[in-house]
Amino acid sequence: MKKKIGVLVSGGGTNLQALLDAEKDGRLTSGTVALVVSSKPGAYAMERAKKAGVLAICVDRKAYESREAFEAALLDELQRHEIDVLVLAGFMLVLSDDFIRTYQDTIINVHPSLIPSFCGDGFYGLHVHERAMAYGVKVTGATVHFVNEITDGGAIILQKAVAIEEDDTPEILQKRVMEQAEHILLPEATELLCAGRLQREGRRVRILPKNN
Ligand code: GAR
Repeated sequence: MKKKIGVLVSGGGTNLQALLDAEKDGRLTSGTVALVVSSKPGAYAMERAKKAGVLAICVDRKAYESREAFEAALLDELQRHEIDVLVLAGFMLVLSDDFIRTYQDTIINVHPSLIPSFCGDGFYGLHVHERAMAYGVKVTGATVHFVNEITDGGAIILQKAVAIEEDDTPEILQKRVMEQAEHILLPEATELLCAGRLQREGRRVRILPKNN
C-alpha cells in the first residue's frame, strides 16, 4: 500500500513541485502526495497542488490564538485525511515537541544548507544563503533530515554540496541550491521513507538496499 504523504508549505512551493513531478514521472512510487497544507493563505504552493489535482487547504497560523490551537487544527486535518508521512517543504513554522511525537520518525524537512552549518532558529529561506555568503564559505548545499524537537537538529538523511561562485547573489545561490540539491534530494528521501528504507540508529540514518 502506498503511503499517504502530507506536505506542509508556507510559500512558493518549488520543493512541493519537485515531489509532484517525481510522482508523475515514477521516481516517487511508494507514496502519493495526498494533501497539501499551507500555513499561509494565498501561498503559491496551493496553486501548484491544485494544478496537479491534489487537495490543498490552508490552516492559517494567524487565525489561531496559540500554537497549541493551530497544531490541534492541523493534526485534525492530517488525521482526517489519514496522512502517514509528513514532508515539510518550505514550511516556515517550528512545530512543538508534542506535535512531532505524533509523527515520530515520519516527518522530514528540507533545509538549504549543509547542516550543522547555517541552521537553527532564524535560519530560513533566503537568510540562509545571505549568512553563508557573508561568512565566505565556498561550498554550501542542502540537507534532508528527520524533524525532532530541535530546530534543524534531527538525524540527517541525505546531503548534497553545491559550490558558491564569485558573482553569486543570495538569490542566484538560492536558485542553484534548489535546482542542484533540494529538488533532487527531497523526492529521493521521501521515496526512501515511504519505502521503509530508512533505519535510524541514534543520529545515524542507514539507507537500506531495495527489497530488504
Ligand atoms: C527552500 O529553500 C527550503 O529549503 C527553505 O525555504 C525554501 C522554500 O522554497 N526552507 C527553510 O529554510 C526551512 N528552514 P519553496 O517554497 O519554493 O519550496
